[in-house]
Amino acid sequence: MPPTGACQNPRMEWFDGRTAVITGGASGIGLAVATRLAAEGMNLVLADIEEGPLGEAVAGFESGGTAVIGVRTDVSVRDDVLALAAATNERFGNVHVLFNNAGVGGGGPVADPDIEMWEWVIGVDLFGVLYGIKAFAGDMIAHGEPCHIVNTASMAGLLPFPGMGAYNVSKYSVVAMSEVLSLETSATTDLGVSVLCPGFVATKIADSGRNLPEHLVTNEEPTAEQEMMQNVISELVAQGIPPAEIAEHVVDAIRTGRFYILPHPEFGERVETRAAAIVSGSAPIVTEL
Ligand SMILES: NC(=O)c1ccc[n+]([C@@H]2O[C@H](COP(=O)([O-])OP(=O)(O)OC[C@H]3O[C@@H](n4cnc5c(N)ncnc54)[C@H](O)[C@@H]3O)[C@@H](O)[C@H]2O)c1
Repeated sequence: MPPTGACQNPRMEWFDGRTAVITGGASGIGLAVATRLAAEGMNLVLADIEEGPLGEAVAGFESGGTAVIGVRTDVSVRDDVLALAAATNERFGNVHVLFNNAGVGGGGPVADPDIEMWEWVIGVDLFGVLYGIKAFAGDMIAHGEPCHIVNTASMAGLLPFPGMGAYNVSKYSVVAMSEVLSLETSATTDLGVSVLCPGFVATKIADSGRNLPEHLVTNEEPTAEQEMMQNVISELVAQGIPPAEIAEHVVDAIRTGRFYILPHPEFGERVETRAAAIVSGSAPIVTEL
């Protein structure tokens, strides 16, 4: 039974022959979820800013017999996401799974914010998700077939981490956006909603700088503090769980109508500690990475 006041999240039980749109689909978690959904018989639309890996991913799925298109997309550009929706509609018609997953790490501290870096991270991690919803959700609701939106947040959407301000702000916002979307749609439509909040996953996220916009690329050496932070994050990401494991959680959530997807249960207690701190009015609690 859902907790008091919670609406039942619609489930999508059949995947075969239906269509999934996956942003950030050329690598990491996006590619793993695409692989899992292709195994379920879904058609794929892969969207990514990186043309090389996108082409390779599309070729791999084609050779395995999956109906697939790749659309080079910068999710922080609204017109790109609208063009993605148009290309999807032209090739496959109705969309049944939208995985708003493209994301970048970075942005630095709140105490000394680099505003342009914040604009980049928030543009991709927050507005990318909003543009995805704007471009697809209306039609998904209107076609009336069971369908699902999964938004990728992070444990950084539920817990604060010093030095990760822009990322934290974006991911908290993605959790809020997903919660509100679910409350607005779950009782009256066939659109299910989930929000993915993983801890560390072994992907290329620590190398997000590879997708920095040109105006932010610099030859400046990182400070010792920046370098240390980068090394710690890279190490933790490398030791993270395999993206294929995340894909299992995502497909299961779509099938069962699970809203919060927390593939790292060890963080649950820390989320409870944060909730208790909010209620008691104490200062934020630092979470060990
Ligand atoms: N890996 C982790 O430890 C971890 C933990 C929590 C949340 N996440 C989130 O998971 C999502 C996927 O990241 P990942 O870990 O697979 O990393 P990744 O770098 O392997 O994959 C991210 C993908 O997004 C693409 N991308 C980046 N900017 C883009 C843009 N502007 N438009 C379109 N595509 C863009 C990249 O090219 C890449 O293919 C992100 O939202 C990330 O914040 C990752």
